[in-house]
Order: sequence, then C-alpha cells, then structure tokens
Amino acid sequence: MSESAKLSFKGQEYEFPVITGTENESAIDIAKLRGASGLITLDPGFKNTGSTTSAITFLDGEEGILRYRGYKIEDLAEKSSFLEVAYLLIYGELPSQAEYENFSKEITHHTLVHEDIKKILEGFPSNAHPMGVLSSLICSLTAFYPDSLNPNRSEEEVNMSIIRLLAKMPTFAAWAYKNEVGHPVNYPDNSLDYCSNFLKMMFALPAEKYDVDPVVSAALDKLLILHADHEQNCSTSTVRVVGSSQASIYASISAGINALWGPLHGGANQSVIEMLEAIKADGGDAKKYLDKAKDKNDPFRLMGFGHRVYKNFDPRARIIKKAADDVLTKLGVNDPVLDIAKELEHAALNDQYFIDRKLYPNVDFYSGIIYRALGIPTDMFTVMFALGRLPGWIAQWKEMRENGEPIGRPRQIYVGANERDYVSMNKR
Ligand code: SDX
Repeated sequence: MSESAKLSFKGQEYEFPVITGTENESAIDIAKLRGASGLITLDPGFKNTGSTTSAITFLDGEEGILRYRGYKIEDLAEKSSFLEVAYLLIYGELPSQAEYENFSKEITHHTLVHEDIKKILEGFPSNAHPMGVLSSLICSLTAFYPDSLNPNRSEEEVNMSIIRLLAKMPTFAAWAYKNEVGHPVNYPDNSLDYCSNFLKMMFALPAEKYDVDPVVSAALDKLLILHADHEQNCSTSTVRVVGSSQASIYASISAGINALWGPLHGGANQSVIEMLEAIKADGGDAKKYLDKAKDKNDPFRLMGFGHRVYKNFDPRARIIKKAADDVLTKLGVNDPVLDIAKELEHAALNDQYFIDRKLYPNVDFYSGIIYRALGIPTDMFTVMFALGRLPGWIAQWKEMRENGEPIGRPRQIYVGANERDYVSMNKR
C-alpha cells in the first residue's frame, strides 16, 4: 500500500505520494507541489532534500553503515581491490575473472596521454595547486577526444571515455606532482598494477632505480577503495548537475574535482594535517584547539570532524585509523602527529559540545597521516581523494544519464527590491 503525506496551507489540503527505498528510507515526492499549491520548498545546503533515487551507494548516518552496491565497505576494504570496486560501482556487479582481466587490461593500455599534455602542464607555474592542474588536464581531454563532447553516443563510445578517465587520471595526478617539484615526468609502466604504476610515476627519478614497496601499494589501494563513492556528496552532486546539462563526462568530472577541492569537503584531508602540524608547533595542546573549535567567535573548526550525514562514527575513519597504525608500524614510521590526532579524537569524543552535535572523526581525519607515511606531500592529499572518488563520480554520472534525469535547476525565494522606476544618477 503506497503511503502519502498531507500538507495544509491557507485552508487547502494537498496530498503527495511518499516513496520508500530498498533500505526503508522514505521521501515525499513533491514533483507536483508547485503546480498544485504554488509553494516550493526551501532547504539551503539540501540538508533535508533528496536529489535523486540511486542504486549505487547506501549509507546510514545514524548506524555508521556504508555499502557499495550492497557490499559492506569493511568487506570491500579488506578483501577487494580498487579496480574491482571501480568495476562494481560503474557496472553494478562484481566482475567475473574474465571481465576483471579485460577491464584491467583496457585501463593499463590507455594510461599514456597525448604528448601535447606536457605543453599544457608546462604552462602551469610550479606553485600551481595540483588540484587545479588535475581539473584542467581532465577537462583538456575534451580537446583530445572531441567526440566525447556529445554524451549521447553509443554505449561503447561512452565506455571508452570511462576507461580513458580511469586510465589517465593517475598519469595526470603524478604529472601534476612532478610539475610542482620540477622533476621530469615519468611515463606509465604497463607491467605494473594500478597503484604501483601511479607510485612509480609519482616517485621514480631518472637517476635512480625505483622499486614499489608492496606495503605502500596495498595501503594506497585500500585508501582508494574507501574513497570510491559516497552517494550525493557535494562533488558527486556537482558531477550530476553538470552532466545533467549534457556537458561531456570529462567536463562533469573536472567540475567534481573542483568541488572536492574545498576544505569543507575533500580538501579537509590537507587541512587536517595543517591543523595537526599547527597544534604540534604550538606545543601540542589539544584542549586549547578544542576550545577554539567550540568558540563561535573563532572561525577555527576541528578539521576532519563532523559530517553532514554521519551522526555516528564514519566507518571509513575506523578502517583508516587502524590502517594508519598498521602502515606506520610496517614502514617503521613514527609520526608524532598521529599521537596528537588520537589525543584530539579522544578529547573531542568526551567533550559535551561534540557529543551534543554528534561530531565524530570523518574519512579525512586519519587519511592524511597514511598519505604522509607513504611519502605523498600534503597538497597532493586531495588529489588522492579525487583518484579514489573517480569511479563513484563516473557511476553516478552514468546512472543520471541512463535514468534520463532532467537538467538540474533549483528554484529560489526572491528577497530583493520590488519593482521600481529607473532614474539614472549618472549625467552622461
Ligand atoms: C567529506 O558529504 C559527504 O559524504 C562528504 C565526504 C565524502 O566522502 O564525499 O564524506 C567527504 O567532505 C567529509 C567532511 C570533511 N570536512 C571537514 O572535516 C571539515 C570540518 N567539518 C565541518 O565543516 C562540518 O562538519 C561539515 C561541513 C562536514 C558538515 O557540516 P554541516 O552538516 O553543514 O553541519 P553544520 O556546519 O551545520 O554543523 C552543525 C553544528 C554547528 O554548530 P551549531 O551551529 O549547532 O552550534 O556542528 C558544528 C557547527 O558549528 N560543527 C563543528 C564542526 N563541524 C560542525 N564545530 C567544530 N568543528 C567542526 N568540525
């Protein structure tokens, strides 16, 4: 029996259908609200508003549950691989052995980028933030593959764009880093797996032999899995809205990269380390910074804490915190910043302000500590987040296109000047 919700306004009653998803989440379908009542809803930040139905990722913020296509993040992080998870998110099912091998081979053989990309790269000063370089290089794919400008091409052609994105993003990310440190770029090595190839492009130097540390490669693979999708977050919503105008997938992903860059979103992993370093430099007094975070007159926020959806532990944060201990132990790294992070977490979880607001560590709180132990520089942390989130953005863009969703165009309530006569003050 289908449910409904009633609204009464100015003596009129209105009834709207309620839809319920496979995990018993319910929403009022207000598609006919304005036509029936003249009303719209107002919800800055869309805190109470669903933008779509989706079959990709389920998360329960109260219970701290995250699943990709029904599979628990804990199982995928422990047993799967990033490319297998990418396949699952994009195509909806885990790949067979043959499907996986073909997918992996396709990606490996598209990691090389057009030599003219180096001309674009050389145009960036060395102080260019790698996220700006990355979004620019991804968008430049529209120039090298102009057929991609039409998103309504055959399934095979769209899939080729998907493979190119997955294959070339690591190359672009590594090249953005090389541009920053003034080293020559490294070309992809097709004998290596996804993460090892990225690490070698990032860190290999002409004068030295570079061997990928399997501990580092495995840790990176797990981190990419944990970042792969997260339903309708800010950057994913950006990808869907840009894609809804029928802009190319490359333009849509480039827009998502830019949305992720912000410190309230994916940029938080860089801000967390900068915050922890500042606390360390200031004597390591966690309580002082907790008080700053609670002070409404102080713009300081505890970066890596709080979440729009999770009002319990972010399950990814739990996994990353344990991985941080494991990786630093295996690599023999002793990072005092990890101790400050743990002290800060303990203090916050026992502080009434954070308890009342259900503020817990999120995915960004510990991830930077692992990236740092892997030798990845701080301003590349959000690039790593983008590398992980790419399959999720692709899957969500593909779902939006396949569902034939309309162009995203919210309404507003106007609060500006009423009509007035034009009388110029400028004597021309
Ligand atoms: C990601 O959406 C996703 O799924 C994102 C993500 C993904 O995988 O895509 O999970 C990745 O972006 C994780 C979040 C990374 N950002 C940070 O760590 C930045 C610090 N956190 C906050 O800025 C904040 O918690 C947000 C942006 C994450 C969420 O903000 P909301 O949901 O808009 O909540 P809010 O700002 O309205 O905060 C509610 C209250 C406020 O206090 P009151 O007005 O009720 O007194 O909590 C306070 C806030 O001041 N608060 C914090 C805080 N976060 C919220 N106070 C101090 N420190 C914080 N970090």
